[in-house]
Amino acid sequence: MDISFNQVEHRYMSGTPFEKVALKDFSVTIPSGSFTAVIGHTGSGKSTFIQHINGLLKPTSGTVKVGPYTIAAGEKKIDLKALRKEVGLVFQYPEHQLFEETVEKDISFGPINFGVPKAKAMRRAKELLPHVGLPEHVLTTSPFQLSGGQMRRVAIAGVLAVNPSILVLDEPAASLDPEGRKQMMDLFVRYHKENQTTTVLVTHHMEDAARYADHIIVLHNGQVEMTGGRELIFERASRLREIGLDLPDSVRFLEQIKEKWSLTDVPMHFDLEGTADYLAGFMKGKEE
Ligand SMILES: Nc1ncnc2c1ncn2[C@@H]1O[C@H](COP(=O)(O)OP(=O)(O)OP(=O)(O)O)[C@@H](O)[C@H]1O
Ligand SMILES: [Mg+2]
Repeated sequence: MDISFNQVEHRYMSGTPFEKVALKDFSVTIPSGSFTAVIGHTGSGKSTFIQHINGLLKPTSGTVKVGPYTIAAGEKKIDLKALRKEVGLVFQYPEHQLFEETVEKDISFGPINFGVPKAKAMRRAKELLPHVGLPEHVLTTSPFQLSGGQMRRVAIAGVLAVNPSILVLDEPAASLDPEGRKQMMDLFVRYHKENQTTTVLVTHHMEDAARYADHIIVLHNGQVEMTGGRELIFERASRLREIGLDLPDSVRFLEQIKEKWSLTDVPMHFDLEGTADYLAGFMKGKEE
């Protein structure tokens, strides 16, 4: 399902002294099946943007299209339940998404709400636990007895349980330790590949955007600053720095090597392994 925003504006607290235009003149497309990263400085509008994709927020003006669904100001016909079955949204603080007495009930809430028989939903909850890195015994405990990182895993399992065709993740790995962060990202990548999901990942980590995304959207002050593939985005280092962002370490490192060794043609690499391979090959070529 393609997602497109056409001339969207979003105002918070419209008509009050606290009115805030969080998105303006906002037009962008997210290709179906892509792994799209959304980056931008704090307050640039990332969370506001992605909450339009499942109709949690509506445009003040303009139109959002998600496959056959149209979300527009004053549009009443939209079947939000059907839309939300397609679009799974993991909030910036997914811990706040939890509300049931037990982990099992929390994870199976979505599927039951969408008509899956209770026994089947419970089975799926149990199956999902190892995928999100939780032990089976947590099923019967209250989600509120878990650590912040574990609560996040429960919330993510609850979203995956519905099998969404679009998965929207608002900084899902923030505040996790490096191992937890890697596990979490691996989970999303696996889910993306196995289900051909359109994945939209909001992240502050340029490394994650570089490593995982095939499409990047850069926001600045509520507008789309750049959009495209990784090379296209990371070629514009000086503009990225102007708007409070930076290049991923691997790209920055090769940029410096290029400068210090006065090289002309250094390809971009998006992770440390690729960078190391490139340098090893380069050094070997020098020796021969
Ligand atoms: N509920 C709200 N009411 C009023 N203003 C809001 C609300 N939520 C966000 N804003 C404002 O809208 C702008 C965009 O906020 P948003 O949360 O979308 O940014 P963000 O890019 O997700 O930031 P962060 O990286 O800190 O999560 C900010 O100026 C913010 O203060
Ligand atoms: Mg945010």
